[in-house]
Amino acid sequence: MKRIALLLVAGSIVAGVLAFTPSASGHAGEQATPITEIKVPAGYRDWRLISIAHEAGNLNDIRAILGNDAAIKAYREEKLPFPDGTIIARLAWSYLPSEENNKVFGREQSFVAGPPTNVQFMIKDSKKYAATGGWGFAQFTGGKPANEAVPKACFSCHEPVKDRDFVFTHYAP
Ligand code: HEC
Repeated sequence: MKRIALLLVAGSIVAGVLAFTPSASGHAGEQATPITEIKVPAGYRDWRLISIAHEAGNLNDIRAILGNDAAIKAYREEKLPFPDGTIIARLAWSYLPSEENNKVFGREQSFVAGPPTNVQFMIKDSKKYAATGGWGFAQFTGGKPANEAVPKACFSCHEPVKDRDFVFTHYAP
């Protein structure tokens, strides 16, 4: 009896692993995020600015938060929750002192964007992503999606701002 139970457990683990494998490897060439299958949204670099942020510490980056038209409209009209079709992008670059600028200022005060670190997206589709507050989360480094463990961590960290539809960034007028 115990043996059968063990076999059943082992079997379901194998099934679970197999269920995950195709999404993790089968689409590798298409550069989609495993599980959510999100691709880098077209034209995101042309979207409008919502705000900026700077993280110190290990990240030590500077970020721009951009929104597609649906995102900007919802922000400006102060409408919550964000409608389906909203996409918010978070672009980050390393935060570097600028010697060139400092020379002009005559003192060390200037910091600028260095090379990009990664890009994150939140894509609203209340049906498709119902399990994560209606948002699909994805991260790309150099155009390559982050591994499947990363998007799972996204939602849980965004949960404290549930009353703002899981979005931290306020619109900077
Ligand atoms: C440790 C907590 C934490 C984790 C994990 C996390 N975020 Fe965030 N996220 C934040 C905070 C805080 C902000 C606002 C400050 C900032 O941008 O630095 C933010 C901002 C964002 C924004 C801009 C919109 C907003 O909510 O302000 C996007 C898009 C975003 N995160 C996507 C993601 C994605 C995708 C992942 C997973 C790959 C992720 N986040 C993981 C805490 C987190």
